[in-house]
Amino acid sequence: MAIRDIIFIPDPRLRQVCDPVTSDEFDDALQTLIDDMFETMYHAPGVGLAANQIGITKSLAVIDVVGSEQPADQYVIINPKIIDSKGEVGMSAGCLSVPHQMIGTVKRAEWVKVAALDRFGNPIELEGDGLFGHCLQHEIDHLNGIVFVDRLSTLKRERMLAKIGKLDRLITKQSTQDSQ
Ligand code: NI
Repeated sequence: MAIRDIIFIPDPRLRQVCDPVTSDEFDDALQTLIDDMFETMYHAPGVGLAANQIGITKSLAVIDVVGSEQPADQYVIINPKIIDSKGEVGMSAGCLSVPHQMIGTVKRAEWVKVAALDRFGNPIELEGDGLFGHCLQHEIDHLNGIVFVDRLSTLKRERMLAKIGKLDRLITKQSTQDSQ
């Protein structure tokens, strides 16, 4: 297993609709990719990771909202689709691809049901609310080229991006000073 590099906005791969994983792609390389994605997610640390966050634009994401690193809490969703949803609820969200651990409140369905394939290509259905429900929607958004900042109001998004830019410049300035 290996930790892969996570990419950040505004990398265009995060805005790309990911390609479906085809039936001939369920091979050893895919299993290694999934294991690497879990390792990368735990190392970050985060509760979900989509393949395009490590630069691979395939419709595949991993989730573990418990963080136990145990198979019972690990979910792999391949070519996922939301097939049912109920209610609406706001929840604070962050993303490994949004720098400086920026947090914003995102409105999402309170409960969702998702159809997907598991890591071996078997059809599965998952459903959930709370953090798991939001995480399912957050990762499916990624695979459709949507980052949570896109779901904020224009004003809130502009403020957040300005703050990120400011912090980036501050860090660049500090590291320039350190090296002098
Ligand atoms: Ni994310």
